[in-house]
Amino acid sequence: MNDTVVDSSLRTVEWKDNKVVMIDQTKLPNKLEFVEFDDFNQVANAIKTMVVRGAPAIGVSGAFGLALAVLQSKATTEGDLISDLELAKKILFETRPTAVNLAWGLEKIMNVANSGDSVEQIKEQVVNEAKKMADEDIEINKTMGKNGSVLFDDNDTIMTHCNAGALATVAYGTALGVIRATRESGKNIKVIATETRPVQQGSRLTAFELKHDGFDVSLIPDTAVGYTMANGLVNKVIVGADRIVKTGHVFNKIGTYQIATMAKQHGIPFYVAAPLSTFDMKSNAKDVVIEMREGTEVTGIGDKKTAPDGINVINPAFDITPPELISGIITEKGIAQPPYDESIKKLFQVNN
Ligand code: MRU
Repeated sequence: MNDTVVDSSLRTVEWKDNKVVMIDQTKLPNKLEFVEFDDFNQVANAIKTMVVRGAPAIGVSGAFGLALAVLQSKATTEGDLISDLELAKKILFETRPTAVNLAWGLEKIMNVANSGDSVEQIKEQVVNEAKKMADEDIEINKTMGKNGSVLFDDNDTIMTHCNAGALATVAYGTALGVIRATRESGKNIKVIATETRPVQQGSRLTAFELKHDGFDVSLIPDTAVGYTMANGLVNKVIVGADRIVKTGHVFNKIGTYQIATMAKQHGIPFYVAAPLSTFDMKSNAKDVVIEMREGTEVTGIGDKKTAPDGINVINPAFDITPPELISGIITEKGIAQPPYDESIKKLFQVNN
């Protein structure tokens, strides 16, 4: 039974009294539990074990991790403080390799740290910048939501995969932010959430947060994507992203690629929603590391074993959806449309 109550002002991750407070997402949907950290190593561990997950939430958590590191440091010179921060940055960076928001969040904080003139000033600037990034995340999601809502119509049934919601960000969400903004614009919509094996972010998190907010949401097994599309039960798809490279290749939760392929087969528009902090304008798709996770995520569900002992497992956490399958990429600066190499470049040229 699920009696978890969520207040709409809740943040997935926040800074309180010089500590980082997070919702423990491994406990959802059964329990709403908060964890509190005063050591950056604990934040690194929380990212690794998916207590906090989702690209923008990981980016802000990394920044908060460095804010803890700056307070933990006993350095008395700027140089020693920066060295302590570099070490913390390395430990935080090595937790999860695919979502570029983590590197983005860490870099942003290091730039601020490097511009400080004294130990005290660096400490203050770093903490303030991390708090600002958390506030900005919500504003960005709301703007992105409004931008994307024009693509959705009254009576649409929208499929989403994994969790690109409030729980994957500080609040409001990216793909689910667009879904929220579409409803706020007065349109009547339904949502189909995929279960998203093996970690089940769809059933544990997306179905939970949408149901909590009163959406008409149906949960399907990942294997029913083709069925729902072939039977006209879905009009549009929207997902988030962990990294988008300059060619428009989208890295997102494993299974996204097969949903996009199936959407193309059925002529269903497939959209991606992501802030500019999810774009990696330097890497080529082939150079990005796809996180491979423990086989135990696949050989069991919760504590229940569902596969024979010793079975070989392939468990990639993300896949790549090529640009030709994507109808539009929604950002806080507008919607990029094919050809993506041009439209993505424009998003950055015009606005930064
Ligand atoms: O492994 P996770 O749960 O961190 O993966 C999350 C996703 O793939 C999300 O779709 C992505 O980070 C976008 S979140 C706004």
